[in-house]
Amino acid sequence: MQIFYMPTKILMGEGVTGKIGSEAKMIGATTVLVVTDEGIRKAGLLEKVILSLEDAGIEVDIFAEVTPDPTVKLVEKGAAIVKRKGHDLIIAVGGGSSIDAAKGVSVMATNEGSICDFEGVDKFTHKPLPVFAVPTTVGTGSEVTFGAVLTNTTRNYKFLVYGDSIAPRVAFLDPVMVSTAPTSVIISTGMDALTHAIESYISLRATPQTEALAIGAIKLIGANLRQAVANSENFAAVGNMLIAANLAGIAFGNSRLGIVHAMALPLGAFFHVPHGIANTVLLPYGLEFNLIATPQKYVDIASAMGETTGGMSLMDAAEKAIESVKKLGGDIGAPKNLKSLGVEADMISQMAADAMKSSHIPANPRKISSKDVEELYRKAL
Ligand SMILES: [Fe+2]
Repeated sequence: MQIFYMPTKILMGEGVTGKIGSEAKMIGATTVLVVTDEGIRKAGLLEKVILSLEDAGIEVDIFAEVTPDPTVKLVEKGAAIVKRKGHDLIIAVGGGSSIDAAKGVSVMATNEGSICDFEGVDKFTHKPLPVFAVPTTVGTGSEVTFGAVLTNTTRNYKFLVYGDSIAPRVAFLDPVMVSTAPTSVIISTGMDALTHAIESYISLRATPQTEALAIGAIKLIGANLRQAVANSENFAAVGNMLIAANLAGIAFGNSRLGIVHAMALPLGAFFHVPHGIANTVLLPYGLEFNLIATPQKYVDIASAMGETTGGMSLMDAAEKAIESVKKLGGDIGAPKNLKSLGVEADMISQMAADAMKSSHIPANPRKISSKDVEELYRKAL
């Protein structure tokens, strides 16, 4: 049996953030907590959000303490504020870290215990508070996914709290909210979105719906990421990247991912390598490893990336997908190895052991062992 599920309402276009107040009112919200980071606040991106909410007669509090790789402590601090002040809606404004933190806060706002108790699928008892998400990057897809990736700092471990009811209620894809993002963020989140789309497309759990969404995302990324990196105020390119990230998010929320994401999480937990950067470096190695499992899908990916494969043998055409990904990474100046990001070889066996615990491993198209993972880390060093 296969299932496809997508409960999030999506608003797209320049300025849709201005609709946040009316959408909040529509679900009966009266007082909200905005979960974000200091950079977003300083960039002035909250002003439109606050104005729209206040115009709708909704009280607003701001929790601007999110940091990359949101921690258990951060989520519990946010949830304590929500419980104390009685907020009935959480609004995430930011990248994946803010959206994941908001999801964690929404779970803890209605459930007792520690967020660590809810690692896994549907481990909490009460329905989380509703979440709205305004992404300010072009990559995570977290505005439509069912999980929150959080970090347990006591043992450098990233874990997933997952459940159908965690998906945000409304997502606002507004290119204006991405226009102040640094180029490095567009690069890393854009490549994260590409990794989502590709790993979803070749996942063993792909469905006809996720395949269509994933290949659509790959096409948009192939045609728009370079331009979005060149100029984050190119609203057409950035808007298309937001949509691509969103399509890929809907796809992988249903299909899971693969070895690249499984290996990226420990790099974040141990060495604080930004998630998208970890994926960017690992993607070509993961693709080379998986090539023999599903070459026809690689040919589809190559075509979606704009490569010509007519007249080529199956394997030559499939390899075009890997070349095309490397070319895109090179064109936008993405990092090429892990050493330059501060990763050291002595943690490889521990990272491989953690990667093998990831829920993405069973979805990877080629069977993989801990030894294979260690080998891939070494290649990427
Ligand atoms: Fe990702």
